[in-house]
Amino acid sequence: MFESIQLTDTVRLEREGDVALVIVDNPPVNALSWHVRQGLFDGITKAVESGAKAVVVICDGRTFIAGADISEFGGNVPKAAGLQEVQAAMEDAPIPVIAAIHGTALGGGLEVALCAHYRVSLASAKFGLPEVNLGLLPGAGGTQRLPRLVGVAKALEMMTTGRHISSTEAKDGGLVDDVVDGGLEELRAAAIAFANNAVAENLPLVRVRDRNELVEAHAGDDEIFANFRKDIARKTRGFLAPEFNIRCIEAACNEPFDEGLKAEGKLFMELMTGPQSAAQRYYFFAERAANKIPDIPKDTPLIDVQKVGILGAGTMGGGIAMNFVNVGIPVTIVERDQASLDKGLGVVRKNYERSRSTTPEQVEERMALITGSTSKQDFADCDMVIEAVFEDMELKQSIFRELDEICKPGALLASNTSALDVNQIAEVTSRPESVIGMHFFSPANVMKLLENVRGDKSSDSVVATTMAIGKKIGKVSTMVGVCPGFVGNRMLFMRGAEAERMLLEGAKPAQVDKVLFDFGFPMGPFSMSDLAGLDIGWKQEKSSSSTIREVLCENGRRGQKNGMGYYTYDAETRAATPDKEVEQLIKDFAIGKGIEQREVSDQEVLERCLYPMVNEGAKILEEKIAIRGSDIDVVWVNGYGWPVYRGGPMHWADSIGLAEIAAKVQEYSERLGGKHWDLSPLLKSLAESGGQLQTYTS
Ligand code: 3HC
Ligand code: NAI
Repeated sequence: MFESIQLTDTVRLEREGDVALVIVDNPPVNALSWHVRQGLFDGITKAVESGAKAVVVICDGRTFIAGADISEFGGNVPKAAGLQEVQAAMEDAPIPVIAAIHGTALGGGLEVALCAHYRVSLASAKFGLPEVNLGLLPGAGGTQRLPRLVGVAKALEMMTTGRHISSTEAKDGGLVDDVVDGGLEELRAAAIAFANNAVAENLPLVRVRDRNELVEAHAGDDEIFANFRKDIARKTRGFLAPEFNIRCIEAACNEPFDEGLKAEGKLFMELMTGPQSAAQRYYFFAERAANKIPDIPKDTPLIDVQKVGILGAGTMGGGIAMNFVNVGIPVTIVERDQASLDKGLGVVRKNYERSRSTTPEQVEERMALITGSTSKQDFADCDMVIEAVFEDMELKQSIFRELDEICKPGALLASNTSALDVNQIAEVTSRPESVIGMHFFSPANVMKLLENVRGDKSSDSVVATTMAIGKKIGKVSTMVGVCPGFVGNRMLFMRGAEAERMLLEGAKPAQVDKVLFDFGFPMGPFSMSDLAGLDIGWKQEKSSSSTIREVLCENGRRGQKNGMGYYTYDAETRAATPDKEVEQLIKDFAIGKGIEQREVSDQEVLERCLYPMVNEGAKILEEKIAIRGSDIDVVWVNGYGWPVYRGGPMHWADSIGLAEIAAKVQEYSERLGGKHWDLSPLLKSLAESGGQLQTYTS
């Protein structure tokens, strides 16, 4: 008999009556590190040997096992029990094994739970196989067991999206046997009661691997997979992992369990050793690192944001407001006149009404949290105000002067400027320490990135609050310094300048767009300009035919909105087709500049679009505008559609080799000239020393 035996540093065995409890305590998320696997194996084995009549596997802390320990992948790990040995010990145990789940049972964690004979969970628990988001598939039998429990359609959806499902959905789908309310204590009690009942009732020791009905129902059914592939094709373009997940479920339907397991193992290894998963695993940690600002102490007091003010209800202001009301924070939106206010609030309402995730009642609840006004005086009781008026320094400065007068002491004053100098905005106020940039991306209610811009005088508390509020509204936040265009747009300008230059040299808009689309961006720069509108910031009276864009505007081409831009758009389908008139306009423009047109290869297009971005990224690090190379990747993946399976521009550059990139930058610099081709000293020195951009900390 035993009360509590520590098996490894992170796993212990307890006993309550006939029931043994194997308890994992590996903060922060109980990942399946080597000592957890060894402890689980020892725990199950010892429990059986000790004569216990049932075993409960449960975790301390905030969650059940959240998956394999990603930081162990590819590293040197002490020898310990493998996950499959743990699973076999559970599945083949001669006494009932019950998994008791709270928090999140994810990836390898859910795969462990699937080897218990029964699962009990808290109502608040969530379940998922999110490996696809790491460029992987569940490699511990999850691809074979999940469809056996929840059916093929649901397994396909869960495994290709990585979506977490609730306890209710899990119970309805057959994944969980019992759901209880309350906290960890209630869960423990319920799992022990379940175990005692299983013993008393002599419940069968159900092995999920033996439950074949749901997968056999789709043996030879190619149609379900063909249709599913078609449905997700657009969303998963370029990614390997979703397809490999599907193949595993096909194997589950068409092969015996052990053969399916072999197929899973082979495909898992292929993904694990490939570049996509390496990029996605790197990116997982990059996103979390971005939250950490080294010089801001963890215990920095935060401003308590109970009410937010937003100035401007245009494209950005309305979307920004939605972020806050979605998490229950009331917002006051101020516009310059009633008509603009009505228009802006009308767009917000329509966005909610169109969204499938908001019920009509929720639309009303959220709209009720927004107060519209035409007086900035209504910001007086706001804890934070975000300015989102036109991109004009004088206007922004005059507004910040007013906000300084109106807002209460200590209120956070943010600007959503996309490129202007936050210090110049701050300096017109008597409290520059309260001012910061919060650069949201369009559409602000959808795009994940929040590029916060720290002014020279922004206080620690303002910096910390900005990051915390970003997390609260579900954004991926970064903190960067002041420079024109900050991190994202500054690098984008380089790409745009070079893309336009290549048009003059003979590349076609469709060619440039296709090269970047095939690289994995959702669209190329010219399609993007057409979508945004070519006439943003363009004024007829000031237009002097100095860029191709100006020439197109002068010729009445405004982009998608009037069906003509770099492309011509079908009025009904919006399909884009290249236009001979545009090609001629570009040709004439090039002749006017004395540039001879030639064939530009796709490889040159790729290099000239992306290498200046890498070079600029290195300059950004040199200037300490970004804290880490990985923060730049977070900005580009979340704000500009850089394909996550290529990790971001810094990770990608490392994977190409910095020596090769530095040599090419030098070569283009000599051939083409232009400040953006001046080789960054940091890039040069990292190339020479064999260093990396992705791990560089400034
Ligand atoms: N391995 C190692 N570290 C992990 C981890 C994991 N699986 N999951 C989270 N962490 C770390 C994070 O890096 C972070 O560390 P930090 O504090 O030093 O930055 C810390 O745990 C807390 O993570 P979050 O900030 O993400 O905490 P949240 O509370 O916001 O989210 C979570 C918790 C939902 C569990 C989220 O961390 C998550 O989604 N984790 C990844 C889950 C996952 O992908 N599991 C599958 C792994 S692959 C696998 O299991 C393969 C198998 O099939 C063989
Ligand atoms: P917008 O033109 O759609 O909206 C601006 C709104 O501000 C208008 O509704 C206007 O009536 C209002 N406004 C102007 N002066 C005002 C004043 N004095 N008082 C109250 N309201 C006033 O512009 P958009 O696109 O929303 O841009 C706003 C800011 O966000 C700009 O600084 C822009 O650079 C930045 N931004 C824009 C992005 C985009 O993709 N549109 C992306 C990221 C940042």
